[in-house]
Amino acid sequence: MDLGLRDKCALVLGASQGLGLGVARALLAEGAQVAISSRSASALEEARDALPDDQRSRCFIVPADLGAEGAADAIAAAARRELGAVDILVNNSGGPPPGSPSATSVEEVERQFARMVTPLLALTLAVAPAMRERGWGRILTIASSGIVQPIAHLPISNSLRSALVGFMKTLAGEVAADGVTVNVLAPGRIATDRTRSIDTALAERTGRSKEDVARESAGSIPAGRYGTVEEFGAVAAFLAGAGASYVTGSIIRVDGGAIRSI
Ligand SMILES: NC(=O)c1ccc[n+]([C@@H]2O[C@H](COP(=O)([O-])OP(=O)(O)OC[C@H]3O[C@@H](n4cnc5c(N)ncnc54)[C@H](OP(=O)(O)O)[C@@H]3O)[C@@H](O)[C@H]2O)c1
Repeated sequence: MDLGLRDKCALVLGASQGLGLGVARALLAEGAQVAISSRSASALEEARDALPDDQRSRCFIVPADLGAEGAADAIAAAARRELGAVDILVNNSGGPPPGSPSATSVEEVERQFARMVTPLLALTLAVAPAMRERGWGRILTIASSGIVQPIAHLPISNSLRSALVGFMKTLAGEVAADGVTVNVLAPGRIATDRTRSIDTALAERTGRSKEDVARESAGSIPAGRYGTVEEFGAVAAFLAGAGASYVTGSIIRVDGGAIRSI
């Protein structure tokens, strides 16, 4: 199935590894031009160097810390310089630390808001007007299954990602008639450094082995395993493609059935 992405330009955040890189690779495989962004220029270069020859020349790197002052404007400007336009924006960021809800630090919430929420809203606002003028655009935001079924030890993640969902749903209604779709992806447990570090933290807190924690976690998912970044990237690429033009304002679960509600 041709997703119609050959003439499209995408900016993918948090894309030096994990879910963001999985999405970037899926878009590159469909023929898109893709700017990948994260803090580490060397990690981005490594990710680009590992691409197949025919994709490397369509991949651009935009190093920036989402938590830094003015990061969104700088990333938007760099992406426009490299790509000419941003047809597809994939919002993503590093995840916040785990902890119990009652021990949550308000200062930490504010710090995380400034790197997980504000810059993603600012980037969305920076690229959406041109998408509307061109009559075509895709805004995808990587959230978490916790926006539907809150995860017990991730209170900051559950709260701040829900703030993004509320904004994106509202924006979806405003821009739908201009050919711009706005959707949220809700990963359950996809095997990345992030899931590995969450499992390690839980193992340390409970005095169990990492393997035991990961086995129990996988066993609680109907699919019986963690997902792969390739499975996640494939769903994102479909949503970015021409065939998903009537899907907007939605939360799309990529969770192997982990979320128990309908
Ligand atoms: N994997 C899952 O199953 C899952 C489930 C639910 C939610 N999520 C959430 O989805 C997001 C991506 O997950 P992941 O598993 O791919 O995480 P990951 O492996 O930790 O990757 C995070 C990416 O974000 C970049 N990043 C981190 N802090 C940044 C900052 N301040 N500015 C710019 N870039 C930054 C990292 O690169 P640099 O270090 O180079 O900056 C990296 O490319 C996270 O927020 C995670 O919590 C993941």
